[in-house]
Amino acid sequence: MIFDKPSTRTRVSFEAGMTQLGGHALFLSNRDIQLGRGETIPDSAIVISSMVDGIMLRVSAHKDIATFAQHSSVPIINALSDESHPCQLLADMMTFQEHKGKIQGKTVAWIGDGNNMCQTYMQAAKAFGFRLNIACPSAYQPKKAFAEKYANSINFHSNAKSACQNADLIITDVWASMGQETQQQQRQAAFADFQVSAELMNSASPDAAFMHCLPAHRGEEVTAEVIDGKQSLVWAEAENRLHAQKALLLFLL
Ligand code: CP
Ligand code: NVA
Repeated sequence: MIFDKPSTRTRVSFEAGMTQLGGHALFLSNRDIQLGRGETIPDSAIVISSMVDGIMLRVSAHKDIATFAQHSSVPIINALSDESHPCQLLADMMTFQEHKGKIQGKTVAWIGDGNNMCQTYMQAAKAFGFRLNIACPSAYQPKKAFAEKYANSINFHSNAKSACQNADLIITDVWASMGQETQQQQRQAAFADFQVSAELMNSASPDAAFMHCLPAHRGEEVTAEVIDGKQSLVWAEAENRLHAQKALLLFLL
């Protein structure tokens, strides 16, 4: 498990999951390995993959995962990049299905930043067959390549309320992701109309669920009333990281 950024859920779930499956996981931060002081990704991938059965990577630049995969002889798992967070979506889809049934044909509203999580929901909309309504401030839209590729599964909305109309699931994420801490103030201003509040939840289906990959900032992207309220599935969602990733490990190994 190579981490170039902090993590609670991803680290603990992969490490506990490997132990529960009878395996062993190594936690390697950038400070622990030569990759952090300039050894190349190809060299690191060749050497590490000659000694382990799978590699999980959390990195800033998505292209680093692709480069690592090209030179690795074992499966590579994307544990978050600037582009996507597929492990989180495995847990999210599992959670929706456990609590609400099939997600196919349902409507999901993404409110907030057009970031890595938003883009992974775009991929999931196509893979699982749900409609994705996206409401992001104009300067914080998902990448154009994603918007074009997944155009058939998504609708863009200029305000959060219209995106939530009849939605079965409301999703949000932090306004400033890891690495964007210096933009916190300017983002707070830009995202002020994109907070998931009880009022916003009321414009969705009466039994709509709320999810958030966590960590959350109560009072920013979501109110405490919503995240700690009856419609919130965030604790089941977090726990399901463990179960979904054990399945992923079994599938890959
Ligand atoms: N949701 C998620 O990936 O959390 P961590 O950053 O704590 O791993
Ligand atoms: N968008 C967030 C997700 C954290 C799990 C980030 O990249 O920091």
